[in-house]
Amino acid sequence: MAVPFVEDWDLVQTLGEGAYGEVQLAVNRRTEEAVAVKIVDMKRAAECPENIKKEICINKMLSHENVVRFYGHRREGTTQYLFLEYCRGGELFDRIEPDVGMPEPEAQRFFQQLIAGVVYLHSIGITHRDLKPENLLLDERDNLKISDFGLATVFRHNGRERLLNKMCGTLPYVAPELLRRPEFRAEPVDVWACGVVLTAMLAGELPWDQPSDSCQEYSDWKEKKTYLPPWKKIDSAPLALLHKILTESPTARITIADIQKDRWYSRPLKKDVKRARLSSGGVSDSPGGFSKHIRSDTDFSPVKGALGEDKASYSTSQPEPGTGGMPWESGTGSIDQLVQGFSFSQPACPEHMLVNSQLLGTPGSSQSPWQRLVKRMTRFFTKLDADGSYRALKEVCEKMGYGWKMSCTNQGDGLEFKRHFLKIKAKLSDIVSTQKVWLPGT
Ligand code: ADE
Repeated sequence: MAVPFVEDWDLVQTLGEGAYGEVQLAVNRRTEEAVAVKIVDMKRAAECPENIKKEICINKMLSHENVVRFYGHRREGTTQYLFLEYCRGGELFDRIEPDVGMPEPEAQRFFQQLIAGVVYLHSIGITHRDLKPENLLLDERDNLKISDFGLATVFRHNGRERLLNKMCGTLPYVAPELLRRPEFRAEPVDVWACGVVLTAMLAGELPWDQPSDSCQEYSDWKEKKTYLPPWKKIDSAPLALLHKILTESPTARITIADIQKDRWYSRPLKKDVKRARLSSGGVSDSPGGFSKHIRSDTDFSPVKGALGEDKASYSTSQPEPGTGGMPWESGTGSIDQLVQGFSFSQPACPEHMLVNSQLLGTPGSSQSPWQRLVKRMTRFFTKLDADGSYRALKEVCEKMGYGWKMSCTNQGDGLEFKRHFLKIKAKLSDIVSTQKVWLPGT
């Protein structure tokens, strides 16, 4: 498929897919610069043109080291192309080991960077409304970048705050007031989601399906039963912070300013020389070397506006990309050319395919949601041929009581999916190959 513009850029890989369309990785043939291109077909849904306009408008307002950078956009017929900073490290989600989480200093560093990004967004009157590990990307130095402003909105304009009424986000991460009140403040809702993200990083599980009294885990938390998981896996200092964040009443909930004064949050990190050398600014650095990465997919389906749409308008005071007003718009760089015109192409010759294969290690890549599900490291290699592997897998699944229907839903708990994967893999340990295998095109 030859897409119309930028001869010098190859679309080498699908980074993500969703209801909106897809995100592709574009690599410049000459400079090897990499850019993420969100491709949105505006015919997909009636409200799509308005939603994408809002997403573009908000993206134009953004400039922060912990927010995915927006280079510009282009419309070709009914397709919108959004050009975004490519985050080579993939999703934070994939750094969370099910039921374990990650080492505390790493969680602290990611949390500090998340808070830095949210402080910035709130300072310019923007609320993200869908903060979760799947929307937190990592660059090549493991700096966290808040991504996907598809549900974001303006909550403060000209110094005046407005309350929100639209129910949106992802159930395990939404604040309780969103499920209970017709109107609620924006900032405490984002703060709550940051608390759920921190819990997932420190315990490798989500605390509840949703923060309502019908949910046993949520009632247990309110009754301070911290001898139960996930809380019992979390050290007292971060747990004290979580108590303040995951406070039901939004008025009693800790503010971001006070999170920044929290004992655990501001506790100095262990020094790591290797990362300190690598890191570009950011808040601080933590010991390098992540725990084993276990990946899966399965986004929670976002909660959509059951209580009707927001009535806010939003400002477009930032310069238009392509007018030379954006910091990256020197007018001659290859990213400018990508934004302004020319054409994409698929890699045409083997040398360009090489760029593609060099990038195959990039997390989150594949073609269909099912392929993506399989590839995102919920995979293992076996010592047997295809037939033998199939028979072994079938036997284990039958023994474990799993059915054989191959299906891919786009809902549920991603960490739960990983948990099942690990159980199957453990049962197959005698045939799982520990050798590194390189499969072109996977
Ligand atoms: N997936 C979605 N957006 C992405 C980006 N900007 N970089 C890497 N992977 C992505």
